Amino acid sequence: NCASYAAGEGETPAVAGRPKGRAEFEELRETVADPNHRPAYHFTPPANWLNDPNGLVQWDGRYHLFYQYNPAGPFHDTIHWGHAVSDDLVSWTDEPIALFPDQEGPDETGVWSGCFVDDDGTPTVMYTGGAGKDQLPCLARADDDSLREWTKAPENPLVQSIPDDVGILQTADWDREFRDHCVWREDGTWYQIIGSGIDGEGGAALLFESEDLLEWEYRHPLLTGDWRATGPMWECPELLRFEDGAILHVSDYSKVAYFAGEYDESTHRFEPETEGLLDHGVFYAPQSFVDDDGRTLMFGWLKEDRDGASQWDAGWSGAMSLPRVVSLTEDGTLQYALPDELQTLRTDHHSFAGLSVSPGDSTTLSDVEGDALEVKLTVDAANTGEFGVVLRETPDGEERTVVRCNVRRRSVVVDRSQSSKSDAVNDGAQSMPITLDEDGTLSLHLYLDRSVLEVFANDAQALATRIYPTRADSTGVSVYATDTDVSFETLDIWHLDS
Ligand code: FRU
Repeated sequence: NCASYAAGEGETPAVAGRPKGRAEFEELRETVADPNHRPAYHFTPPANWLNDPNGLVQWDGRYHLFYQYNPAGPFHDTIHWGHAVSDDLVSWTDEPIALFPDQEGPDETGVWSGCFVDDDGTPTVMYTGGAGKDQLPCLARADDDSLREWTKAPENPLVQSIPDDVGILQTADWDREFRDHCVWREDGTWYQIIGSGIDGEGGAALLFESEDLLEWEYRHPLLTGDWRATGPMWECPELLRFEDGAILHVSDYSKVAYFAGEYDESTHRFEPETEGLLDHGVFYAPQSFVDDDGRTLMFGWLKEDRDGASQWDAGWSGAMSLPRVVSLTEDGTLQYALPDELQTLRTDHHSFAGLSVSPGDSTTLSDVEGDALEVKLTVDAANTGEFGVVLRETPDGEERTVVRCNVRRRSVVVDRSQSSKSDAVNDGAQSMPITLDEDGTLSLHLYLDRSVLEVFANDAQALATRIYPTRADSTGVSVYATDTDVSFETLDIWHLDS
């Protein structure tokens, strides 16, 4: 998928190279400030390119976010593992780059996606090395608990052969599609799934087993998809286990599909019962971890939705989603919650509880201008038709992004047709189906952060998207109703800090 992010023309304004100290990272961030589009409270790379979250962990009390990073420019190439740390999931500090491709060896083209493993107290990561037409499983161990310095295993690459009869997909680019890692332990034995595809069938998560994390034996596909539904190749597969079942999610180049069902520890088979999408927007290649409070926290890559030349000019590309607390209800429904820590970002609060809007009308919320906002609202869906929230609106209405809720059709659409005057951006609408709460309430939770908009409906559906207003006065907020009165039971808006 990354081939489409080719470099633009001309000089990159970013300082290419490998900053080492905190001051250098701060300088780099200032060099590519981009205040209209660069998110204030979502994590973005210091400069240049970011894609997948990797190696997520809370280690020794601190949260670590590693990520696919190209320090040489805002395009996908020579991937390293960037690194940031946080005490609260909200404020992130840049750390020196954690993993570099070697000049020669199994990761000479790039250090691609992988996960964190606690090997009896030794912080360890499994990642994919890119070398020529090969994608090779590799391992590295941290030299200390700061997770700054890593030593790659001399045994790399760890998987040399897979039985021929598995029929792994080959493409013009790769001898076999075989990458990205999710590792766990059961009764002292290690297991992992690796993303792949089976020729003529579809994407696959291949299960391997090991006693020591170094020698891996192939077992079977934990799940294979139908290429017509979820593509010929799965990237970044992840198995999440909860009290009432398991979720296996996979990224298929365009979307993140999940299967909810049962994982059987005795057979090591996964039985899917329901399926859906983790997000209906640009959220991609997510990864999760369980923190010290037992929360399953998921981050995803929010892809850019503007062309390569604009990314080149901006000097940075890619944002990380907010962390989402993922859970599974007894009936197998996926639930999202936003961690309480995010509330520390809130500053000014405005409440419009009880506000009513008549059909065909709109109300400008004149004292809540901003490009970094949290909006939370509930309506009684029984008497409500279509209504919406307009964000990043200019006073003359020329630029505006509309979050449109069609309650009868049970859908939320982010209409980006007027989000930006630029023709270098994708202005296509993005939409998601919604379900209502048992009592018929629809609740919406929006996080606006300059070029990022994350929308959650009834804590069950999510849509993260990107918008690129061009004007400095694209900061207005309004609400409207189309065909019925709309009465907001609650409507809270907060300005959010950086
Ligand atoms: C997903 C992905 C992974 C790969 C990495 C390379 O976005 O393509 O499959 O490991 O990115 O950067």
